[in-house]
Amino acid sequence: MSKIAVIPGDGTGPEVMREGIKVLKKASKVFSFPLSFTQFDWGGDRYLKTGVTLPDDAISTLREFDAIYLGAIGHPDVKPGILETGILLRLRFELDQYINLRPVKLYPNVETPLANKGPADIDFVIVRENVEGLYIGSGGFLKKGTPDEVAIQEMIYTRKGVERCIRFAFEVARKRGGKKKLTMAGKTNVLTYVQDLWYRTFMEVAKDYPDITPDYAHIDATTMWMVKNPEWFDVVVTENMFGDIITDLGAIIQGGMGVAAGGNINPQGVSMFEPIGGSAPKYTGQNVINPVATILAGAMMLEQIGRRDAAAAIEKSTMAVIGKMQSMAAGKMGFSTSQIGDMIAAGVAAN
Ligand code: IPM
Ligand code: MN
Repeated sequence: MSKIAVIPGDGTGPEVMREGIKVLKKASKVFSFPLSFTQFDWGGDRYLKTGVTLPDDAISTLREFDAIYLGAIGHPDVKPGILETGILLRLRFELDQYINLRPVKLYPNVETPLANKGPADIDFVIVRENVEGLYIGSGGFLKKGTPDEVAIQEMIYTRKGVERCIRFAFEVARKRGGKKKLTMAGKTNVLTYVQDLWYRTFMEVAKDYPDITPDYAHIDATTMWMVKNPEWFDVVVTENMFGDIITDLGAIIQGGMGVAAGGNINPQGVSMFEPIGGSAPKYTGQNVINPVATILAGAMMLEQIGRRDAAAAIEKSTMAVIGKMQSMAAGKMGFSTSQIGDMIAAGVAAN
């Protein structure tokens, strides 16, 4: 029995999670593997009621699960930063989910804002370091609120943290069996300490992967190539903040937040899978939000827990349903949220 912790979260989170679970339950039936789902009500509503983002035993509780399935975190009545750091980032850090894996794949019949680019051009994976760098919250203020104020936010990386991320990315490039190329997106020309550590580590680890071509691009140039020549990329590895930025760019070129899924991965621990779009408060409760990203995140989760067959079947069924949708945008899909979930679940088949 694989035990899944479900955190539907805020806004449209619960609606998309309902469809995601529907599809997972169908896959577990078709491929005969038992799954159990345990819901946790952590999110903005609970915070507003109790003042607590995550209860003290949340992390130890989650450690007992095989994976976490997360809807969305973000509430219009909660000051920005509280839920993000108190829930999402805390889970990433304390469960040491050091990889943020974000496939950038344009499916047929999905519109991309890039002119003259199609599914053959947009198919790569971004591996973002997920627990170090600017995100660790090291820094502070001096003389806050005065004209002499100083604010410091430090980008800290460890050799161990960088190396395990880069190794993971080489493994992804090897497993994908695509162009067999790994691009490090960095900024060695300016961040001469942190990026020096990254680049040296990258070239050293590359020696263990003679079948993969190591490639380097500055992060600013990477944003340009992602728009102009996305077909150049196979796997991209990058530090946390750069990765945050380019994965939103990746999401939009693959058709937007309705289709973009991601995984927060600890290969030795408990990983967490989520649609990368937010809680979309204005669409809440209308049954119009696109559940495809959540369903694809569910497929990634099954792959992580060893059910590659079921994951592939979900992706295949999702592709077929995408082929019938009018748009990936909320309210314009030609179907409701629950209809999309029903159709994808119905299409999950053993071969
Ligand atoms: C993401 C999000 C988060 C991040 C926020 C919500 C803290 O933008 O998952 O990319 O910056 O990592
Ligand atoms: Mn982001």
